[in-house]
Amino acid sequence: MTKMQLYENLVTQIISLLEMETDPVANMANVSAVLFNGQPDINWAGFYILRGNELVLGPFQGKPACVRIKMGRGVCGTCAQTGQTQVVKDVHAFPGHIACDSASKSEIVIPIFKEKKLWGVLDIDAPVLARFDETDKLYLETIAREFEKKTNL
Ligand code: SME
Repeated sequence: MTKMQLYENLVTQIISLLEMETDPVANMANVSAVLFNGQPDINWAGFYILRGNELVLGPFQGKPACVRIKMGRGVCGTCAQTGQTQVVKDVHAFPGHIACDSASKSEIVIPIFKEKKLWGVLDIDAPVLARFDETDKLYLETIAREFEKKTNL
């Protein structure tokens, strides 16, 4: 199966799960579970939620992670500050990267918005270099938009 075919299946699965529920915790939990279990080479998938000027850990799959991230710090904080998806081929080359799980080598972080304002981020880590590309960005942004639409943020 190609990466695109895999994502088509994941998007269908996520849309059907989101269709049934609007609670943010429940939806973050199921989106994390689908993204973590449904793809190869992923060691962490989950959400951080903006609370004041910090990102606070939300539902995730993987090893325990840092609980609070300041705006602008690391890959997640940069995504939150810029409002733009961050695709990082080598996390060790990213200035200020926060190493939660030493297995992580590459990462993608997608912003989540509520009425055009940042609400949180979706973070996915991989134990291999350059795991994420434009295809991941496209599909994960589609998943983020579905999450925003169906969830009572
Ligand atoms: N590496 C992230 C921190 C979060 S963990 O990877 C789950 C960062 O630099 O923002």
